[in-house]
Order: sequence, then C-alpha cells, then structure tokens
Amino acid sequence: MALSGGKTPRAMLETLAKRALAWPQIHFFWSDERCVGPDDPDSNYGMARAALLGRIAVPASNVHRMNGELDPPAGARDYSDQMRVFFTAWPIFDLVYLGLGPDGHTASLFPGTAALRATDETCVANRVDGHVPSPWRLTLTFPAINAARRVAFLVEGAQKADILKQVVEGTQDVERYPAQGIAPGSGDLTWLVDAAAASRLEVR
Ligand code: 6PG
Repeated sequence: MALSGGKTPRAMLETLAKRALAWPQIHFFWSDERCVGPDDPDSNYGMARAALLGRIAVPASNVHRMNGELDPPAGARDYSDQMRVFFTAWPIFDLVYLGLGPDGHTASLFPGTAALRATDETCVANRVDGHVPSPWRLTLTFPAINAARRVAFLVEGAQKADILKQVVEGTQDVERYPAQGIAPGSGDLTWLVDAAAASRLEVR
C-alpha cells in the first residue's frame, strides 16, 4: 500500500495501529514526500512512523520510504529503483491512499506543475513554488497511481466541500484540478469522505 501525507491520514493510521493486522504481509510505500529528512516535522514518513509504523511489529524491510533528504532528482530516481526492485516491473499497488488539497492537488501532483505530464516515470521530483520548507516534492506519477488495484481518497472537513464538489462533479480540467487525473485502470476508486466534506455534493 502507498500512504499519503498531510493531516487527514494521521487519525486513520493511529486507528490502524490498534488493530492486530498481519503486518509482516504489508509493505508500506508513499504516494509522495516533502524534500526533507525523515526526522523533519514536515516528513510524511515521519508522520506515519509516529502514528503507525513505530507502534506495530512490521519488519524494517517492509517499509519503503522516499528519501526526501536526497537531491530531488536523485530522490526520485532512487524511489523508482526501489519500486523496480520490489515489483520487478511497473509498480501495481494493492491500495494507494490519497488526500485532496484545497487547490485540487493530490499526492504532490499540484496544479500546472511538470509532474502532471510525466508519462514514462513512476516517481518524479516536482517543483512547487511557494511551498516551505522546500519547494521540491517527490511524487508518484499518474501512470503509477492509476496502475493500482484500488485507490482511496480520504477527505475530511467543511473546508474541503467546495473543492470536492469541483473535483467530483465539476468540468474535467486535470491541469487545474489534478485529483481529477486519478482514474485507476481497475476502475476501483473509493472516496472516503465525512459529511462536512460531502455537504455540497449532489450525489450522496
Ligand atoms: C502531502 C500530501 C498531500 C495531502 C493533501 C491534503 O504531502 O501534503 O500527500 O497530497 O494529501 O495536501 O492534506 P491534508 O490532509 O492535510 O488536508
């Protein structure tokens, strides 16, 4: 499975940590990472370690983090190599968890950025001007995410109601609303949303 960062997944990961799942059979990857070290407060890996991985008996060899501390292009190449070694072909995740940003971004596929147009790579370094502490992010690409058996968005709160309506019911414009580019070939796309986030949707 591939995890997302941001705030929304933390509660889900903390809940999962209380479950007696077959952790040795689960391999953890990430859909994106900020270009910071694993101990940085902005690290997506760091958040998952605090909320889940540090609380369960999962072998270290099952945790495949993006090395955000590397030079961004090198970090992207490194992760593409990690996935090539693990999957021995194009990565096919059983499950990819995604979030939805207020601007319609998901993973680190931000509006109008170069990563939206990546077709041959599985992971790229994406420059997102104005982001701190680093304008660089590492992200899975659309082709890597859309090859997954199942993709699930986790969206929470009234502050996401407008963008969720735009992404789900609005005109298709992936450059403006990258989350609209998530369309797994398997057709298995699930929106896990709370009532506040869903409050403006026609379909409920
Ligand atoms: C990240 C994420 C990003 C996130 C959205 C939603 O690294 O920030 O992977 O895509 O999922 O920004 O973030 P929140 O859950 O904090 O609203």
